[in-house]
Amino acid sequence: MHFASDNTSGAAPEVLAAVVAANAGYAPSYGAEPAMLRVRDRLRTLFEAPEAEVLLLSTGTSANSLALALGCPPWGAVFCHEAAHVAQDECGAPEFYTHGAKLIGVPGAHGRMDPGALRDAIARTGAGGVHGVQRGMVTITNVTEAGTVLTPAEVAALAAEGRAAGLPVHLDGARLPQALAATGASPADMTHRAGITHLTLGATKTGCLGVEALILFDPAARWEGELRRKRAGHLASKHRFLSAQMEGWLADGLWLRLAAQANARGAELAAGLAARPGVRLTHPVEANMIFAEWPAGTAERLRAAGAALYSWPLEPGREGARLVASWCTTGAEVAAVLAALDAAL
Ligand SMILES: Cc1ncc(COP(=O)(O)O)c(C=O)c1O
Repeated sequence: MHFASDNTSGAAPEVLAAVVAANAGYAPSYGAEPAMLRVRDRLRTLFEAPEAEVLLLSTGTSANSLALALGCPPWGAVFCHEAAHVAQDECGAPEFYTHGAKLIGVPGAHGRMDPGALRDAIARTGAGGVHGVQRGMVTITNVTEAGTVLTPAEVAALAAEGRAAGLPVHLDGARLPQALAATGASPADMTHRAGITHLTLGATKTGCLGVEALILFDPAARWEGELRRKRAGHLASKHRFLSAQMEGWLADGLWLRLAAQANARGAELAAGLAARPGVRLTHPVEANMIFAEWPAGTAERLRAAGAALYSWPLEPGREGARLVASWCTTGAEVAAVLAALDAAL
């Protein structure tokens, strides 16, 4: 009953097989291996972006932070949802990599930035001349921190606010495969056709060992990206193992199948939770993350029964939890945690 995070899952057998195959013999290092060109071309095809450049990194934090450093000057502001991972969960890495850009939190229900609030935040910034930070970049997250999914039209509406002010727009796609599986949207429609200029495509949570692709839709950013990645200590020497994971993951639609599996188990779990008296879903469940409120003591009893989940802060006196289904969550695990929940309630 492992519902703490999709990061607690292992790697898909197909990805492991690709890594084992890449282990044979010798290969050029630092991204010069032939597989990296194949990965770049595969992503160009999948995203219908024949010019896009791709850098592989082993963490989402480094990919996000390098994207922001590429798009935002040290005296710039990065506009993000107030609960965004870049703002809350990256230990200041975006500020560090940008050499001091300021993150400005934008409100919005259920993890979605409100376009009007984003417009206001952009309009307010830079108005004080040299005394304030200047408008820098917008970053959007999909799947959002609240487990909701933005459609391409919603991404485009947010990106348009940034583009109208001449700003580049980053998408944190740590769970982009789940967003694509949920909407059926094409990778291109969800990203560059919606105005996204920099993309973090997360693979780790959805079946890889540890690899994320930073996709630069403006190929002119490649060399600076290469230099920043190396300078940040994130250019892997045995890079072939990063490209092997990505190649195995993208082959035959595996990445979207794994994401769809995670979403399907998430939907089952959400339906089961919503049907229990005393349990309320606090955000719409649109992918593989579920947020619930339930009677005090429930999480403790579930943990005692062997379930792993995160307690999620709500107002004092209310008990909240986050449960995440992963690509390898089984129907039996969902049934087991719901049975444990019945006993706990
Ligand atoms: C929305 C989001 N962005 C990025 C990340 C990537 O973080 P990490 O640096 O842990 O790979 C995560 C992981 O939890 C995430 O949820």
